[in-house]
Amino acid sequence: MQTDGGHTRMCDDLQAALLPWVEGRPAGQVFVLADEHTHALCLPRLLERAECLRGAHVVTVPAGDEHKTLDAATRVWRYLSEHGATRASLLVNLGGGMVTDLGGFAASTFKRGMDYVNLPTTLLGAVDAATGGKTGVNFLGLKNEIGVFAPARAVLVHVDFLRTLDGRNLLSGFAEMVKHALLDSREAWAEVLRFDLERFDLPALKPLLGRNIAIKERIVAQDPTERGLRKALNLGHTFGHAFESLSYRTPHPLPHGYAVMWGLVCEAYLSHVRLGFPASDVQALLRLAKAHYGGFDFTCTQYDALLELMTHDKKNRSQTINFTLLAAAGDVRIDQTASKEEMLECLDYAREG
Ligand code: GLY
Repeated sequence: MQTDGGHTRMCDDLQAALLPWVEGRPAGQVFVLADEHTHALCLPRLLERAECLRGAHVVTVPAGDEHKTLDAATRVWRYLSEHGATRASLLVNLGGGMVTDLGGFAASTFKRGMDYVNLPTTLLGAVDAATGGKTGVNFLGLKNEIGVFAPARAVLVHVDFLRTLDGRNLLSGFAEMVKHALLDSREAWAEVLRFDLERFDLPALKPLLGRNIAIKERIVAQDPTERGLRKALNLGHTFGHAFESLSYRTPHPLPHGYAVMWGLVCEAYLSHVRLGFPASDVQALLRLAKAHYGGFDFTCTQYDALLELMTHDKKNRSQTINFTLLAAAGDVRIDQTASKEEMLECLDYAREG
């Protein structure tokens, strides 16, 4: 298994960044994968800026996580096959997490593996899905059920693509940045808290984003296939996934990062109760969530459903619910548990502050 992916890097000049991956490939051997949205919004910018991709074949799939399926992978494999792709070909994945997960999977299984490069076009994709080598598709209603660890040859983050995003999408990605900062250090945590979410200035975000992605890369480099330390990246996601799943049964599905932000609030509170994580940091997270991520929309009539969802989370090894917690920013404890009473207390804290 190849686990040593190329580094993620911020890039202004797409032509310069892509050329080393494109030049030297036989003619007709470069492919771009887009979804319907990135085809319309980002592909014209890409082709305008990266001359080296102008003759590339373009394969487009429907947008949305519901299309991250084996059918969509088949469509990509079929296109590659019909257009003469070989193991020496390159697939450039232009999109959010759906495209980079699907494209990474399709590329790393086609003829037992061809190179791929990720060009994330969402903040969530840039900070999370595009980096770290997890690829895959949903199957039988289960997220990422089929897939492989197979890192991109390079992940190139061109912040201009993020201009196509609305505020909700940007905030959704920012929640994962908050998570990385909390895992890393007091300094990184203080730095994300200082970022002005009202203005969301992309030039100001850029250096912060570069440092933030590097946090994830350092964790992944130590544990590429998630045997231990990489589980740190599940911070906020035990409660967060339950919030996200339950919201999908309502008319108001929560964007992933919104669910994660409220998950972070609950897990910071749990970290305080179990490990003495500072109360002032829990309060700072709660203020951030309340100010920018809407209200906590769950009532106590939904607590049983939330606990049920958490019990069946695939991160658990048995019936015990598995948490990543913090003793302090940068002091991470994986494989933690909590009592039912403690979990209910966390939900009350998110609801009532
Ligand atoms: N999204 C968490 C990870 O890449 O491990």
